[in-house]
Amino acid sequence: MISEEHTKYLIGNYAPPTIEIVRGLGTKLWDSDGKEYLDFASGIAVTNIGHGHPAWIDRVTEQSTVLAHASNLYSIPEQVRLAKRLVERIGPGKVLFCNSGAEANEAMIKLSRLVAHQSEEPERLEILVAENAFHGRTMGALSATASSKYRKGFEPLLPGFRFATFNQAESFRETVTELSRAIMLESIQGEGGIHTASDEFLRDIENLCAEKKLLLLLDEVQAGIGRTGEFLGFQASGIRPSAVAMAKGLGGGFPLGALWVSEEFAETFQPGSHGTTFGGSPLACSAANAVLDVLETENLIEKTREQGSYFQSKLEKLKTRFPSQVSEIRGRGLMLAIAMQNDPSPAIKAMREEGLLVVAAAGRALRLLPPLTVSRKELDEALVIIERVLSKS
Ligand SMILES: Cc1ncc(COP(=O)(O)O)c(C=O)c1O
Repeated sequence: MISEEHTKYLIGNYAPPTIEIVRGLGTKLWDSDGKEYLDFASGIAVTNIGHGHPAWIDRVTEQSTVLAHASNLYSIPEQVRLAKRLVERIGPGKVLFCNSGAEANEAMIKLSRLVAHQSEEPERLEILVAENAFHGRTMGALSATASSKYRKGFEPLLPGFRFATFNQAESFRETVTELSRAIMLESIQGEGGIHTASDEFLRDIENLCAEKKLLLLLDEVQAGIGRTGEFLGFQASGIRPSAVAMAKGLGGGFPLGALWVSEEFAETFQPGSHGTTFGGSPLACSAANAVLDVLETENLIEKTREQGSYFQSKLEKLKTRFPSQVSEIRGRGLMLAIAMQNDPSPAIKAMREEGLLVVAAAGRALRLLPPLTVSRKELDEALVIIERVLSKS
């Protein structure tokens, strides 16, 4: 039951909630009435190693007794260790830490601006972004997000963004001007409804960036940290970006964002040019190091590929059985969506009542984002609920 104090004391910027969540373990969540749910939302692609993973709890508990916060006035061993692990996974370069996806993108946009100002063509400031993208709610990240649904009421936004069509390299080629400096993309659009960038599109964009001397900026905030069956979503295509923004799954539930910058641009930020008090605290980085430990010890990235293709093939069968309701199954790994023929809200509500939590997205999509630790049995249980809801509606 939702306390009356919820609406009394909390600003109403989110849709009014229908359940109050109080506990989690693995793929399960419980509400304050004791009802159990299969969590196929994962806090919107955050709890990739599930709730209450013992290795995460041990590490975070231990670190909280030793040192929670010290600031970036000092070197933090957990931060250095995490940065090294990210560089080893992404490529030669360096890392800066922050607290959220929007902040990681904000840093990426600022990197692009700074590269322009430090160059001999400081007027080349523009960033090309995809029309259906979502990059966050801060003013910079919002300026990179085309949808009027998010922008309305906050204008004037930052100048210097141009919009092109996702998955159409030709559209980006036509939109580039002599003032362009960068292209910024999600490898899989999450809020936009789970649209996967084709490998061909990403390689064409990489070539366009090389040809026009543009930075290639990737927003891996939702698709990152193992979710697609790669550490980062773009890695399936083999392209080499200039910078990558990460957050969500990185801290496993502890707020943490990161920006990886390739060697070429790794010295762009200099002392005093950018920063944040909390970014990369010992506690946040210990949580992220625990997430990486679990990904490695439980072989979760490979497992996500297997589980994802199993789940996707079963969902495809449901699409064949319910063509008047399901238009398409989209995504990769365990970042999947059932695109519905009509408004998905009634199905999402019915699934919740049956004990399965999923997330809506644009394009009439019903997103399925289970933890990467999900078992085959839990996938099957979710499939039973999905089938039951589709057969009733
Ligand atoms: C691709 C992408 N970028 C950025 C963001 C913003 O992240 P945050 O909500 O942590 O600011 C999101 C959040 O959904 C996202 O999906």
